[in-house]
Amino acid sequence: MRARFLICVSLLAAGCEAETAPTVDAGPAREATTRDSADADSGHCELGAVVAELDALIRSDLDVCRDCHDATRPASSLQDPGPLWLVGNDAQRTFEQIVLRRLVDTANPLDSALLMRPLAVREGGWIHKGGDIFSRASEAYQALADFVVAAAPCVTASPR
Ligand code: HEC
Repeated sequence: MRARFLICVSLLAAGCEAETAPTVDAGPAREATTRDSADADSGHCELGAVVAELDALIRSDLDVCRDCHDATRPASSLQDPGPLWLVGNDAQRTFEQIVLRRLVDTANPLDSALLMRPLAVREGGWIHKGGDIFSRASEAYQALADFVVAAAPCVTASPR
C-alpha cells in the first residue's frame, strides 16, 4: 500500500510533496511556491529555531502532556491515553507528529488544537479529556502561543 502521508523535513525535503497531508516547509527554497496568502504575514519558516523551541517546550511546559500523549511510554503506564503526538524527548519527530495530526492551524495559529485543547474551557479553550491545563495568563500558554505562531509558516497544506 502506498504511504498516504509523507513528512518533508529539512534536508529530506527536496522534491518531497505530500498529496493529502500538510508538510513541513523546508524553508526559503520552497517559500515562494508553497506559501499561501493565509499565512503570508506570519513570517518565515525558521525550522531549526522552531524545533529548538519545541525541544525546550517538551522538557518544560509540555512535560505534563507526557502522562497521556507520549508514544515512547508503555501504553499501560499512560494515565488516560490520548493521541500519541509526543515522541519522548525527540523534538524533530514530535514536530512531525504535530504536523501530521494537524495540531497547528496554519491560517490561524492561535486557534491551533495544540494550544486550544489544554486551554481552560472558561477562557475559550476546547473540550479536552486531559482537562484544563493552563489559562491565557500563564507562561505555558504564552510559550505555546509563540511556538504555534512560529511553527505555522513551516507547515504548508498541500492541495487535496
Ligand atoms: C490526563 C491525560 C491528558 C493530559 C495530561 C493531556 N491530555 Fe491531551 N488528550 C487526552 C485525551 C484522552 C485526548 C483524546 C480525547 C479528547 O480529544 O479530549 C486528548 C486530546 C488532545 C488533543 C487533540 C489531538 C488530536 O489529534 O486532535 C490535543 C491537541 C491535546 N490533547 C493536547 C494536549 C496538551 C498540549 C497537553 C499538555 C499541555 C495535554 N493534551 C495533556 C488526555 C490528556
